[in-house]
Amino acid sequence: MNLADLRQRAKAHGQDHVFAFWDKLAEPERQCLASHLFAVDFALIDRLKHEFLAANAAPVAKAKLSTAPIVALPKTDAERKAVQAAHAEGEKALRAGRLGCFLVAGGQGTRLGFNSPKGCFEIGPITTRSLFQVHAEKIAALRRQYGAKVPWVIMTSDANDAATKAYFEEKNFYGLGKDSVRFCVQANMPAVAPDGKLLLESKSSLALAPNGHGGSIKALHDSGALQWLRGLGVDTLFYFQVDNALNQICDPAFVGRHLLAGAEMSSKVVRKRDWKEPVGVIGHIDGKLGVIEYSDLPEDLAKATDPGGALTYWAGSIAIHVLAVGFVERLNKGGFQLPYHKARKAVQCIGPDGAALKLKPGEKNGVKFETFVFDALPLARATVTVETAREDDFGPVKNAEGEDSPATARAMLTGLYARWLAAAGCTVPRKPDGTPDCRIEIAPGTSLFGEGLEKYRDLKIAPGSDVVI
Ligand code: UTP
Repeated sequence: MNLADLRQRAKAHGQDHVFAFWDKLAEPERQCLASHLFAVDFALIDRLKHEFLAANAAPVAKAKLSTAPIVALPKTDAERKAVQAAHAEGEKALRAGRLGCFLVAGGQGTRLGFNSPKGCFEIGPITTRSLFQVHAEKIAALRRQYGAKVPWVIMTSDANDAATKAYFEEKNFYGLGKDSVRFCVQANMPAVAPDGKLLLESKSSLALAPNGHGGSIKALHDSGALQWLRGLGVDTLFYFQVDNALNQICDPAFVGRHLLAGAEMSSKVVRKRDWKEPVGVIGHIDGKLGVIEYSDLPEDLAKATDPGGALTYWAGSIAIHVLAVGFVERLNKGGFQLPYHKARKAVQCIGPDGAALKLKPGEKNGVKFETFVFDALPLARATVTVETAREDDFGPVKNAEGEDSPATARAMLTGLYARWLAAAGCTVPRKPDGTPDCRIEIAPGTSLFGEGLEKYRDLKIAPGSDVVI
């Protein structure tokens, strides 16, 4: 397509305002804008505008929700035995080198308001250990424990790719070896105004945003990472998000459940704190397993309880999955498309006069379109959903303050390490409310899942002190 065709196409889709400053642009700036515009799927933007933004857009149809089978935390001996069997299966796969790790870290982390990739955020309760470092040290420990390569793919986006790579270079890949860590960059989607018009970030560039963590399924394939993993003998991927400091990476029992069931995609869930907690819920949606977003879950269903008073839809999705490499290959071969979701967000852009728009705090001037990885669940031929204990597995860093913030994640880390030490026989001082009266940090290289801490049984921890192990 040449430039004249491009202009014609933009005009046909009511988007010719993007050329408003064209005549005043220098050649390299023109090239930049043209390259952004050549990549725009105008028909898709039209469709999304029609679906979500047009005045006559149909209201989102109410999906029929029902509960889905979930492997709950074990309560009986038989259930505990099943966990052991799954654990052994997961360990076998780890030892055989079948596991790879897949971290999605392409998000913009706007709620945290941190100026670097979120993975660089220092989350150690005591030390300056960053989120990336926590993950890297866990993977290093897995490699040692199972004598396997456990390659690591990290998805970034244009917004943070260069900074993420520079960070890993600076940290010498935390000793993992550059050849066993690979980056893939997800695709962008243009951000639009509430009326569907493309927003300009500058006179010579569109306002682009990463296309959501659902973009990972295609990015894995298009970047060649999937082929690379296959070449290394990996057939199973452990998928996790950058902001969860507690995540039990490659949890053998979870991996084993997935493998024993011959599943293509599996998920971990936690019990929702209460009906209002803003997490998606796993259930059958129109008969197929999927995640219904909290904003789409009608209040009466969110509040529904069983005769014992427990929430009917209790299974909050925490974005920890196992993916069969063959599943990701199959989707990409078939030209799949995950549905888009719209999100009102603050988007840095210029106004019609070419000046940067001054946004008021909290103002959401734009719309971003994102796909979500959990929308691949209904496409899987077999799945397993497993309950996990929130305090062992889920301490996300989403907000600068309040719930799901660095403060809550650090407190959860100390809480987890305190439980590990207590289980090893050590006395941990406690406050009247039962929380540890100290700060504790245990390096993943010292203990990955709480094992091997018996030698700290006689450790004396003074109230209010710091313990780094
Ligand atoms: P969130 O939904 O929390 O989004 O991402 P975010 O962009 O990090 O933060 P906010 O909403 O702007 O505050 C959950 C996980 O999915 C990744 C994030 O990096 C995080 O690990 N993600 C999100 C991507 O990899 N790409 C995306 O386009 C969006």
